[in-house]
Amino acid sequence: MGTPWRENPAHGRLLCDGGRVRETGLSESACPSCRRSESIGRAAQVVANGAGITSKLALKLLHGGVDVLTTGNHVWRQKEVYSFLATDERIVRPANYPAGSPGRGLTVRPAADGGEVAIVVDLHAEATSEKVAMGHYLDGRVTAVLGTHTHVQTSDARVLPGGTAYMTDVGMTGPLESVIGVRSDIIVRRFLTELPAQFEVQFEVADGPVRLDAALVSADGGRATGILAFEVIL
Ligand SMILES: [Fe+2]
Repeated sequence: MGTPWRENPAHGRLLCDGGRVRETGLSESACPSCRRSESIGRAAQVVANGAGITSKLALKLLHGGVDVLTTGNHVWRQKEVYSFLATDERIVRPANYPAGSPGRGLTVRPAADGGEVAIVVDLHAEATSEKVAMGHYLDGRVTAVLGTHTHVQTSDARVLPGGTAYMTDVGMTGPLESVIGVRSDIIVRRFLTELPAQFEVQFEVADGPVRLDAALVSADGGRATGILAFEVIL
C-alpha cells in the first residue's frame, strides 16, 4: 500500500494539517523539510477548541505561515467569524452549504513560487466508503483529495492511477491523550451513562502533548507525484 516518497526539488509541495483542536502548529524544528523558505504551500483544517474558528485565531494561523484555512461542520459555531469568511479569500467554508451562506466554498491562491497550479479538495466527511468513492471520482481531475473530520489518521495515503493524491483522513492536530481532542474522562463517562455530557459539563479540550498529523503532497504540472503521511508529537 502507498506510494514511495521521493524528494524532487523541482516538484511543488503542499503540506496539509489534519483537523485542529489545539492552536499548536507545525514548527520548523519538528519538520525541517517544511521550512517556509522553500516553495511549500500549507493548508490547515481548523476546529478551534472544539467550537469553530474565530477571526483572531484564523489570522494567527495565517500569519504563522498557513496559506489556506479550510473548515468543516463547526464553521458556524462562532458568529463573529462570518464577516471574516465573507471577506478573506484565504479561508473557505464547506462548498455544499446553500447559496447565500457566508463565505466561499473554494478559493484560488497564488503558489509561493508563482509556479504550477494545484487543486486540493478537503473532503470533510465521516463515512470512509463515501470518501474513497469521491477519491476515485475525482482521480485525474484534481491534485489531491484529502479527508478530514474523523481526527484519526488513516494508513491509505497513495497516488491513485489518474495522478490524484488520496488519503481517507489526514488526522488531527490536538492532544495526544484524548478522545479525538476532548478530555477522555468526559467522553468515557458519556458512553458509560448514555447521558449527554454537554448538559453536565462542557466538552473540554484535553491538556498535554500535542500530536500533529499531516500529509505532504508533491506535484508536477497539477498531477500528484507523491504523498507522505506523518505524525509529529510536539
Ligand atoms: Fe468535522
